[in-house]
Amino acid sequence: MKPKDLKPPFTWDERHVLIQDRVWYVPDYLSDYSTFTFPGWAHPDLFGNDKPVCIEYCCGNGTWIAAKAVEHPEYNWVAVEKQFERVRKVWSKIHNDSLDNLIVVCGEACLTTQHYVPDASVHAVYVNFPDPWPKERHAKHRLIRAPFVEQIHRVLQPDGVATVVTDDTTYSEMVIREMAPFPGLRSLYTAPYFSTELEGYGTSFFDTLWREKGRLIRYHQYQKIKR
Ligand SMILES: C[S@@+](CC[C@H](N)C(=O)[O-])C[C@H]1O[C@@H](n2cnc3c(N)ncnc32)[C@H](O)[C@@H]1O
Repeated sequence: MKPKDLKPPFTWDERHVLIQDRVWYVPDYLSDYSTFTFPGWAHPDLFGNDKPVCIEYCCGNGTWIAAKAVEHPEYNWVAVEKQFERVRKVWSKIHNDSLDNLIVVCGEACLTTQHYVPDASVHAVYVNFPDPWPKERHAKHRLIRAPFVEQIHRVLQPDGVATVVTDDTTYSEMVIREMAPFPGLRSLYTAPYFSTELEGYGTSFFDTLWREKGRLIRYHQYQKIKR
């Protein structure tokens, strides 16, 4: 299967929430998201079993999560990506590598989570190299802000861990500013609240790119605790 073999399932005017062929479409700007009811992770159109669920937000072409799905068949993996062209790449990996424990969501991270991901239903959350939006006037576009942190906390199971990885120092500082004081989360790292190594973590497209350019990578990990 080539990425282009995945055809858009609807036009913009016909758009609706749909699970089809390992892709869960959650389009932007619907007037009503309540017309679709999340069927549960164990539904046959999703995973068909009760294994713990791990979500990677902003998965890009899916290099990191496809490798995790192979390495850890004991978990179900959900890749979330808003760009259809990148979703197509994940979809082709799912089919070409027969990854029965991986699905891809074509949708915006916060919107999808807020509308459909049930409370305490996720074992672990990962965000690898979220878009940094380096200019201060674009900071409102950064994903790791209070509303999304609240959603991460809500969907994680007790003791579940959220990992955020970035090469961008400003973004790292913002992650720490948003997540460290959040009631109900505790950093797994003591001050300065990140590590530059995380053994066995795996490699994404942007991880490889930035390491080749000599950039330092920062890993942040927060565990859900009782508020
Ligand atoms: C810098 S790339 C990183 C891709 C991948 N994680 C990696 O490390 O190679 C950021 C990705 O996040 C996606 N993205 C950005 N904001 C998003 C959001 N709010 N919801 C879903 N995807 C998002 C972008 O489309 C892009 O593919």
